[in-house]
Amino acid sequence: MIKVIILGFGNVGQHLYQAFSRNSKVDVIQVFNRSPINFSEEFQVSFTTDIRQLKEADIYIIAVPDDTIQELSKKLPLKNKLVVHTSGSVALNHLSDNNKKGVFYPLQTFSKNAVVDFKSIPICIEANNKEDLKSLKQLGSAISENIQEINSKEREQLHLSAVFVNNFVNYLYQVGSDLLLDNSLSFDLLKPLIKETAKKMESLNPVDSQTGPAKRNDFKTIENHLHLLEGSPYKEIYEVMTKKIQNKNYK
Ligand SMILES: NC(=O)c1ccc[n+]([C@@H]2O[C@H](COP(=O)([O-])OP(=O)(O)OC[C@H]3O[C@@H](n4cnc5c(N)ncnc54)[C@H](OP(=O)(O)O)[C@@H]3O)[C@@H](O)[C@H]2O)c1
Repeated sequence: MIKVIILGFGNVGQHLYQAFSRNSKVDVIQVFNRSPINFSEEFQVSFTTDIRQLKEADIYIIAVPDDTIQELSKKLPLKNKLVVHTSGSVALNHLSDNNKKGVFYPLQTFSKNAVVDFKSIPICIEANNKEDLKSLKQLGSAISENIQEINSKEREQLHLSAVFVNNFVNYLYQVGSDLLLDNSLSFDLLKPLIKETAKKMESLNPVDSQTGPAKRNDFKTIENHLHLLEGSPYKEIYEVMTKKIQNKNYK
């Protein structure tokens, strides 16, 4: 049984807790969070807001915002324990030298109320020695079938790409939703299109699945869209994206 303590009980901390709790190979023996938490019945775990009360565990998982990982890792009253963070963009070396360092980055988007299936989520692991890598592999394999050894430089690039395909695309959903709302139309109308676009990535590469007026050079349609966007904050995005697609060499 791998004994784990989760530090930070936000989106990632809670999802990891739930995934580990469903597994017999991992025991989350404690959760630490900066401020008190109102636990619902599904969470049955020892909890503390006092960092001095941390128990003995095999792996300590820091799941706090990127900019606060280093500070929290320095505050831990631990010596030579395996302490990992869950960030896509923070280097392994940002963790304090007081402990053995590792990364346990689940490459997925986590929101508190959205259910995720960990099985297919790539867990990107990194550590400074084989033994710690083995421990992280064991921990990851308890919840996912997709464990990848990724170093800090590669992870940085992965995270950058993830921002484009996840955060930026999600922002574009918000743009689409706003444009429809302005015309009293429901965002539900777009959901089959969104699903199909994502599904196509299973069988086609992104270049082959590009469609739309910019790719076809339908200039009159583009002109009309720009006219409809006159005075809108979204016109600039439409122009930039259209140019980028037009400049790409599609066969
Ligand atoms: N969300 C995702 O989709 C996702 C995906 C992969 C990786 N990650 C990575 O996972 C990590 C956590 O992200 P998250 O989305 O779970 O964050 P989050 O939901 O914003 O949770 C933040 C947690 O950190 C605590 N916290 C904030 N500032 C702190 C500080 N200065 N000292 C100690 N604790 C502090 C908060 O405690 P309070 O309750 O006291 O505010 C809260 O429990 C980040 O490194 C992020 O890059 C996120």
